Amino acid sequence: MTVSLEQLRRCHVAVDLGAARTRVYVKGLGLVVDEPSVAAVNTRTGSLIAVGALAEQMTGRTPDYIRVARPVTGGTVIDIEMAQRMLRHLLGEKLRRQLRRKPRLRAAACTPHDSDPLAQRAAVETLVGLGARRVELVDTLIAAAVGCGLPVEQPTASMIMVCGAATTQIAVLSLGSIVTAVRIPIGGDAIDHAVIQHLRQHHALMLPSQSVRPLQLALSGSGLTSHGPATTEIHGRDVATGLARSVQVDTDAVRQAIHAPLTAVLDGLGAILRDCPPDLVADLVDCGIMMVGGSALLPGLDQMLRDATGMPVHIAERPDVCAVLGLGAMLDGKIEPMVLDPLAC
Ligand SMILES: Nc1ncnc2c1ncn2[C@@H]1O[C@H](COP(=O)(O)OP(=O)(O)OP(=O)(O)O)[C@@H](O)[C@H]1O
Ligand SMILES: [Mg+2]
Repeated sequence: MTVSLEQLRRCHVAVDLGAARTRVYVKGLGLVVDEPSVAAVNTRTGSLIAVGALAEQMTGRTPDYIRVARPVTGGTVIDIEMAQRMLRHLLGEKLRRQLRRKPRLRAAACTPHDSDPLAQRAAVETLVGLGARRVELVDTLIAAAVGCGLPVEQPTASMIMVCGAATTQIAVLSLGSIVTAVRIPIGGDAIDHAVIQHLRQHHALMLPSQSVRPLQLALSGSGLTSHGPATTEIHGRDVATGLARSVQVDTDAVRQAIHAPLTAVLDGLGAILRDCPPDLVADLVDCGIMMVGGSALLPGLDQMLRDATGMPVHIAERPDVCAVLGLGAMLDGKIEPMVLDPLAC
């Protein structure tokens, strides 16, 4: 997956198809789409009823004949046709017409680090079906590092942690390349799942699908840190009776539940630091870890990493859109490549 900046400059559109959100950047226009990767389909007629935020609102609230689909899972397109239909609608007629006018439409897409050829092919096919003649794939870690302004091209180490919905990816970069990286199948979804499981097991309560985020927010501004209210009231359905019920949940216990999946992330971080050459680790002690991705906003996660590593931890300015903005910067030619040609003697 080596693609040159020159090839990326020729692209017209950049796409980040995430498990939670889909983002599209169009050259000259900027970020034009940032919507949930969700589509609602009428199963009787096969027609699309809603996409994006509206379709997400329908989750768990639909009658029999409406199916809410998520065509991207774990950072991989699993339903190419649905992903194409969703993207078509998210782009809208006006933008699609504008893109159709390009004689040879070129697209760039970010794919998770170490994604297998099948996943890469699915991303390419999705965009080819939308009219792209050529698709360049860029590692999400590189795109996100560029997007949050890390000095990727310099001969110093930078560490990035992309905290997505399905995965957490961590890398050390130097001289425009990945020195060492890891992809851990734990992200915001796993944290939500941990909260759901906790309430089911300890309070026999089933949560409405949309209320996990409010629960996490109820734990904040403290989040994973222990300031804030000792209990919080949660409404849900009793597992046994099926009736509506409210319970007072001990926020400290929820915090413990959230900690469990994050252990895998800390292990991954430790493994990366162990694999990294000592000179680069010395650089990292100064510049620290840059967190991007939607889950980087989980309150207290940065402090937890600080405590675990003893290194400075920063959250990017717009962590959720860093990857697509990084791709956009490469499309717009804002990134100058560092030329490493052989020296003439
Ligand atoms: N304020 C917040 N606090 C905690 N978590 C948040 C917040 N905002 C978003 N998230 C979580 O961030 C995740 C979405 O992040 P992001 O948009 O980076 O995912 P994605 O790019 O679609 O996923 P992936 O890269 O894994 O395919 C969701 O799991 C969401 O729950
Ligand atoms: Mg992502």
